[in-house]
Amino acid sequence: MTYTLVTGASGGIGEALVRKLAARKHNLVLVARNAEKLAEISKQLEDQYKVQVEFIASDLSKPNAATVIFQEIQKQGWKIETLVNNAGIGSGGEFGALSLQSELELLQLNNASLVAMTHLFLQPMLERKSGTIINVASLASFIPVPYMATYAASKAFVRSFTQALTEEYKPYNIHIMLFAPGLTKTNFNESAGINNEKGVGLSSDYKTSSTQTPEEVADELLEALYAKKHFHVSGSRNRFGARLAALLPNTMITRFMAKSYRKKSGQL
Ligand SMILES: NC(=O)c1ccc[n+]([C@@H]2O[C@H](COP(=O)([O-])OP(=O)(O)OC[C@H]3O[C@@H](n4cnc5c(N)ncnc54)[C@H](OP(=O)(O)O)[C@@H]3O)[C@@H](O)[C@H]2O)c1
Repeated sequence: MTYTLVTGASGGIGEALVRKLAARKHNLVLVARNAEKLAEISKQLEDQYKVQVEFIASDLSKPNAATVIFQEIQKQGWKIETLVNNAGIGSGGEFGALSLQSELELLQLNNASLVAMTHLFLQPMLERKSGTIINVASLASFIPVPYMATYAASKAFVRSFTQALTEEYKPYNIHIMLFAPGLTKTNFNESAGINNEKGVGLSSDYKTSSTQTPEEVADELLEALYAKKHFHVSGSRNRFGARLAALLPNTMITRFMAKSYRKKSGQL
């Protein structure tokens, strides 16, 4: 039996995605920290869609988490045909004022664990000469973002890493896709400690017309997956934004964004 593994499946984009995957008859392995929520979603999906849904509660901001997940899956004999590295966390505000510990955990989750999951689950895919890996980046991966510096840099890493692997693994029939959502109405800001005040400064208050629901984002991810795309930015306005970012110098964008943050947060 083959499975689709989704990290960050207990809420937001990941939860919307696993609900839609189950409706399309994917057997699933759900990963996140909240075991209670994962158990609840698993039962609902099994009852409703008659698919096999397993879950592993794990904190991917811990260095050995990916290895433990991989070993458990090997032990159970679950064959992961599709891996979606979706779990991620943000942080916002003046860099020097943020907790160093939290910034380093962000990098462990958004980058190091994503690399580890990709490396580990790639091996059986290579043996089988089939598999799909989807890495979730962000619109923020296209530009350095003042006052969200570590988060945007972590997503730039995801973009660069994933686009490089896409070409490396084409000859092995491993399909690799970079998926970049823009502002999506989830718990993301809350978990990132971006309160309303900072959210306004960061233009992350969900009031912009480009904001999508997690269901809309999940629909776009599935469409891109079934179309065998290697790269997709969610939302037409976000696609325009990504194209514009590629045309303008980063120095110009960052100067504008920093000024706008200071103005909105009352520092100017
Ligand atoms: N929302 C946006 O505006 C937006 C925009 C661009 C990109 N994205 C990206 O989209 C992805 C999903 O974000 P979202 O908006 O759906 O966020 P969310 O609503 O906060 O959900 C994040 C998911 O990741 C899990 N997670 C968080 N920390 C974890 C950890 N240490 N170990 C394991 N799982 C962890 C959470 O579950 P537990 O708490 O149970 O662990 C939850 O299931 C992220 O990679 C994010 O960077 C989001």
